[in-house]
Amino acid sequence: MIWVGEMADGDVLDLIGAANDAAAVLRRVPRHVALIMDGNGRWASKRGLPRFEGHRRGVEALRRAVRAAIELRIEYLTVYSFSVENWSRPREEVQGLLGLLHRFIRKDLAELDANNVRVQVIGARSDLPSDVADLLLEAERDTKENTGLTLVVAFNYGARQEIAAAARALAQEVLEGRLSLSEIDAGAIASRLHTADIPDPDLIIRTSGEQRLSNFLLWQAAYAEFVFLPINWPDFDKAAFEAAISDYSNRDRRFGQLGSVACNAKTAS
Ligand code: FPP
Repeated sequence: MIWVGEMADGDVLDLIGAANDAAAVLRRVPRHVALIMDGNGRWASKRGLPRFEGHRRGVEALRRAVRAAIELRIEYLTVYSFSVENWSRPREEVQGLLGLLHRFIRKDLAELDANNVRVQVIGARSDLPSDVADLLLEAERDTKENTGLTLVVAFNYGARQEIAAAARALAQEVLEGRLSLSEIDAGAIASRLHTADIPDPDLIIRTSGEQRLSNFLLWQAAYAEFVFLPINWPDFDKAAFEAAISDYSNRDRRFGQLGSVACNAKTAS
C-alpha cells in the first residue's frame, strides 16, 4: 500500500481524477452530451436587441457549458455552432457568426488548453474560407495532446452531407477493389463519418423549445436520449445543464433490448 503522503503531487491529482471519474459513473453522468444551441435570435428580439447580441451572449453561454461539462466529468461535449444551412442567413449575420468563432478561438483557446480540453472539429472543411479552416486546424493541433474533455465543434456541419460523403468514400473503395459489397455494414459507415473516433452521443439537449434534430448527428443519434428545454440558448447555465442530466439519469436506456424493469421481471418469473 502507498500512503498519499508518499505520493508525488501528480499522482495525487491522478488519484483524485480517477475518484471523480468513478463518482461520475455512479451518478450516471452521460459520457457524451451534444448541444443544439437554439434561440439566440429570439432571446435578442424579446429584448429589442439585434440578433448579433443574441449570438454574442450565446458564446458566453457556450463558455459556461464547457466549464460545467468539465466539472460534471463529461468526456465529450459536441456543440452545433454553424450548420451547412446557416450560410443562407443574411450576409451580415454569417459574418457576425464567423467573427464570433474567430474571437472564441483566439480568446479562449489558451484557457481551454490550460484546462486540458482537446478541441476536435466536425463538418465539411473543403469549402470553408481558408482563414477559418486554418483557425480550426490550429485549435485542433494545439490541443491534440490534451486528455480531459473533448470539445467537438460542429462547424459547417450537416449530417446528410456527412452520410453522403461516407457513402461516396465507400463507393470509391468498392470501385478500386479495396472493399467488397459484403463488407459494407453499419460499422463501415460509422468509421467513415467525421465522428469515426468519437462515441455516439448519450444525451442531446436542444434549447428554445423546438423539438427537432435539424440535420445534426442523424446517424450517431440512433440511441441518444433527448432533452428539450424551454429556455433560449443565452439563458443556458449550469443549473439547466444539471437538470437535463438529472432527467437523463432517470431514463431506462434499452438500445432495442429489454429494459432493466422488464429484465428483472423476466428473471423473477
Ligand atoms: C441558433 O440560434 C444558433 C446558431 C445558428 C448559432 C449558434 C452559435 C452560437 C451559440 C455562438 C457562436 C459560437 C461559435 C463558436 C461560432 P438562432 O439564431 O437560430 O435563434 P432563433 O431561432 O431564435 O432565431
